Amino acid sequence: MQSSRIFIVGSGVVGTATGEGLLAAGHDVTFIDTSAARVRELEARGHDVRTELDLTGEPESFIFLTLPTPHTGYEYDLRAFTAGSTSVGKALATSPVQHTVVVRSTVPPGTTEGLVRTVIEEHSGLVAGEGFGLASNPEFLRAVSAAEDFRNPWMTVIASRDAKTVQRLRELLTPFGGDLRTFANPAEAEFVKCSHNIFNAAKISFWNEMWLVAREVGLDLDPIAATVAKSAEGSINPQYGIRGGAPYGGVCLPKDTCGFLGYAKEIGVDMPLLRAVVEVNEHLEKVVSHEVEAATKQVVPGADRA
Ligand SMILES: NC(=O)c1ccc[n+]([C@@H]2O[C@H](COP(=O)([O-])OP(=O)(O)OC[C@H]3O[C@@H](n4cnc5c(N)ncnc54)[C@H](O)[C@@H]3O)[C@@H](O)[C@H]2O)c1
Repeated sequence: MQSSRIFIVGSGVVGTATGEGLLAAGHDVTFIDTSAARVRELEARGHDVRTELDLTGEPESFIFLTLPTPHTGYEYDLRAFTAGSTSVGKALATSPVQHTVVVRSTVPPGTTEGLVRTVIEEHSGLVAGEGFGLASNPEFLRAVSAAEDFRNPWMTVIASRDAKTVQRLRELLTPFGGDLRTFANPAEAEFVKCSHNIFNAAKISFWNEMWLVAREVGLDLDPIAATVAKSAEGSINPQYGIRGGAPYGGVCLPKDTCGFLGYAKEIGVDMPLLRAVVEVNEHLEKVVSHEVEAATKQVVPGADRA
């Protein structure tokens, strides 16, 4: 395997796991971080650490953006991304070779080709896909087992408009194993990672809401949830329920979602998530029926003339 030159911009949990995993695989890795404390910690681990990205004299490199994306209220705070992308743009401007910039943080869909691309192009004078490669490659690791998860991923997602960039990343990451999926649109990869986290959060909130009800009626949720984890098709069939644009129907799901809301109300437990499940389904029924109506109207004039 050929050794690659790697820069990690933002060397916290994900950046360190990424950089140390790539180091262990034989690549030449430099960590960048603006926090003096973080720089000292990584130096103590024997790493090459810098506070600024400098590509002078460097060969073609991968620049991983593993910057923080916290939230303020109901919004992502992407200030670290603006600052990090600015530093990447300035560094690219001084380098004659073509580097590959990889967004590995979890970002709202559109960030790689929006904020990141715009800021880098502005500060480098280069165009993505021509002067530098640009990709989304979200990280799926768990904080508790970050290093292990990086080295043994169960899923790797790579997205770029430019096939050469996808291929370069595929070669770098394939040796780690796992299911590797590629997309042409970085927003799809970003959407995968956001959906992945929100799905996990929704599942946890679902069982917490059921736990509140079970506790109220004196039942132990653990054996119940463990049984449903094996009985519900939503748990055991990965294809079940994932086709958007199709509300649930039939007899059982509408009856038991609405009926259970009344049962919980009677024992004094509020179930906002279950209420939202019903509301989303009612909304989808309306969306779908409007779309069917619109499609029927388009067909009818032609049918009249026939
Ligand atoms: N922690 C996880 O388990 C996990 C898992 C998957 C994905 N993610 C995502 O990865 C991203 C990074 O998360 P994290 O947990 O590693 O964050 P973190 O806070 O541990 O690390 C971010 C690092 O970036 C540094 N930094 C901030 N601004 C900088 C700049 N302009 N230039 C250079 N360095 C800068 C900070 O000092 C910090 O050390 C987030 O989008 C997060 O959602 C996190």
